[in-house]
Amino acid sequence: MSAPDKNTDFDEAYRSGVGHLMWTDARIPKELNAFIQETSPEKALELGCGIGLFSDYCAKQGIHMTAVDFSAVAIEKALARARQGYTSPEFHVGDVTCLDNITGPFDISFDIGCFHCLDQSNQKKYASEVARLLKPGGTHLIWAMDSSPSGLTLSPSVINDVFSPNFELISAEKKRRRFASSHWYRLSKKPA
Ligand SMILES: C[S@@+](CC[C@H](N)C(=O)[O-])C[C@H]1O[C@@H](n2cnc3c(N)ncnc32)[C@H](O)[C@@H]1O
Repeated sequence: MSAPDKNTDFDEAYRSGVGHLMWTDARIPKELNAFIQETSPEKALELGCGIGLFSDYCAKQGIHMTAVDFSAVAIEKALARARQGYTSPEFHVGDVTCLDNITGPFDISFDIGCFHCLDQSNQKKYASEVARLLKPGGTHLIWAMDSSPSGLTLSPSVINDVFSPNFELISAEKKRRRFASSHWYRLSKKPA
């Protein structure tokens, strides 16, 4: 199977259960936990939320969460849990490269495994949407593999290029996760 990149590929993966096996790791990354402890946000946005476990966790910490994924199947699973009262984020079907249906500003945002699904042109659109939706001084956290599923290389200098001039790369921590060589990046939105 080639790397999934369309919403229908991800729909199929979530429908068949492959998505659960590959991505739905219910353990909360300590990097996410540290991020929300250090930034104490009131309002936060998650990009590429899948079935919403991380947004759910953040909502339970008292954060007003908005979460987006372009897989309608993943969002339906997130909403089904919400209907059972297990979770309270606002879940939206949406493409992270065009988030017209989302209203900011947010104190922080994060993405665990979505950015590395994008090609170069969509990476730029994503960066511009995060810049539009974050408050000045707000921080964006990304976990991304160093080699994307479509074969692009991601590194601190690539991330810096994609997010300049609106953001400053404030940290890049190299870390293996889900067996992959990867980084945790933090980017701070510069004042207007
Ligand atoms: C590797 S999965 C990670 C899911 C979740 N963050 C997790 O760690 O369990 C990547 C997610 O990004 C979503 N995604 C990929 N490209 C997207 C896009 N352009 N817009 C919105 N969501 C996207 C996929 O549907 C998928 O749910």
